[in-house]
Amino acid sequence: MTGDVTADRRALRIDRLRLAESMDALGRIGGTARGGLHRVALTDDDRRGRDLLVRWMREAGLQVSVDQMGNIFGIRPGTEARPPVFMGSHADSVPSGGRYDGQLGVLCALETLRTLNDHRVATRHPVGMIVFTNEEGARFQPAMIASGVMAGKIPLEDAYNARDRDGIRLVDALERIGYLGSEPCVPRPMRAYLELHIEQGPILEEEGLPLGVVEGIVAIAWSRITLHGTQDHAGPTPMRVRHDALVAAAEIVGGVRGIARRIGGELVSTVGRLDVSPNIPNAIPGKVELSVDFRDPEEGHLDRALEMLDEVVRVAARREGVQAHVDHYWRVPRTPFDPEVVGIVEAAATALGCGHRRMLSGAGHDAQYMAAICPTGMIFVPSRGGRSHCEEEFTGLDDIEHGANALLLACARLAGAPTAPSP
Ligand code: HGY
Ligand code: MN
Ligand code: MN
Repeated sequence: MTGDVTADRRALRIDRLRLAESMDALGRIGGTARGGLHRVALTDDDRRGRDLLVRWMREAGLQVSVDQMGNIFGIRPGTEARPPVFMGSHADSVPSGGRYDGQLGVLCALETLRTLNDHRVATRHPVGMIVFTNEEGARFQPAMIASGVMAGKIPLEDAYNARDRDGIRLVDALERIGYLGSEPCVPRPMRAYLELHIEQGPILEEEGLPLGVVEGIVAIAWSRITLHGTQDHAGPTPMRVRHDALVAAAEIVGGVRGIARRIGGELVSTVGRLDVSPNIPNAIPGKVELSVDFRDPEEGHLDRALEMLDEVVRVAARREGVQAHVDHYWRVPRTPFDPEVVGIVEAAATALGCGHRRMLSGAGHDAQYMAAICPTGMIFVPSRGGRSHCEEEFTGLDDIEHGANALLLACARLAGAPTAPSP
């Protein structure tokens, strides 16, 4: 694997201890008592995490900049004025999430850059890292909003005007934490984009493989359903006159699960958010908002699922006599990664002697939008029990080391690291 042995003749490998220490230090910012991570986008903890990353990036001699969506860039110069190879992921987490989703990829990117420095590797292409804003879409929907703006798929103004549950706009939250940058958030020349991420599923662990060579990501569709019934007193209001928004919502929740059953295959459906108003014991709910998340490798299955959802909502609303509004507001297509980059990731796994397999990602990642603007690939490392988006999320250090070395070798190859004289 070119770039594997460097000018100072040691094998090009990451510093496992340094990476573990960085994971611990960053993981303490927003860390939970149960070992998870609660570092929601654009909060003070997110700012503290960003500040630490910027400090580390500067200590590694990177040229640091921030764009209009708060994406943080760190670039190590190459020997030639060529498009950089970027690596990246996100540093925000879901509420009560895990310490590996996102931040592992960011820190493996930083460790790659630190290792290139240690080995004094001169790459023809510059090498950089990106920390994307609000990848989780937990506070501001949709997910991957900042890479979506960069890829030209989400208008900047729409992203700026996204509001959280308290009505705060994304742009105001970004300004409040001091990361409303001036660099345009637009496509920029890139040789390639690589993202290391935990699998967040059970396959690698079940097959006893340390590495996943990701060939692409499933299609994703998010909808928002708003139900307006008649808010009333829970006591004197006879059952025969009720129009209970939550009763209609309950039928819809069951219907969303039924759609996955009826379509079958690899379709997954989730109602993850349910906001009830006024949400007190003695008032009939007048308003309910719920989220629907569909995913499938086949676009056609997603189209069918959305049609079925419209029907489920129509029937439930009519039965309970409530008004329903359905907003299918986010759709990301099934995204194949670049065959050359996938092959280079696979060659890195082979060069390391690590068991690996090709696979599809069921989770969305910033790589999904980056694939629209440059050759993109991903590396997966196993998740214990396949768990993620929970405090139990865990990946062992051996697996992390294999993944980080695969990222390092793939990046070195893409960046045109010179092949040092073989020993
Ligand atoms: O939704 C996702 O798959 C990602 O975790 N944002
Ligand atoms: Mn993630
Ligand atoms: Mn996630």
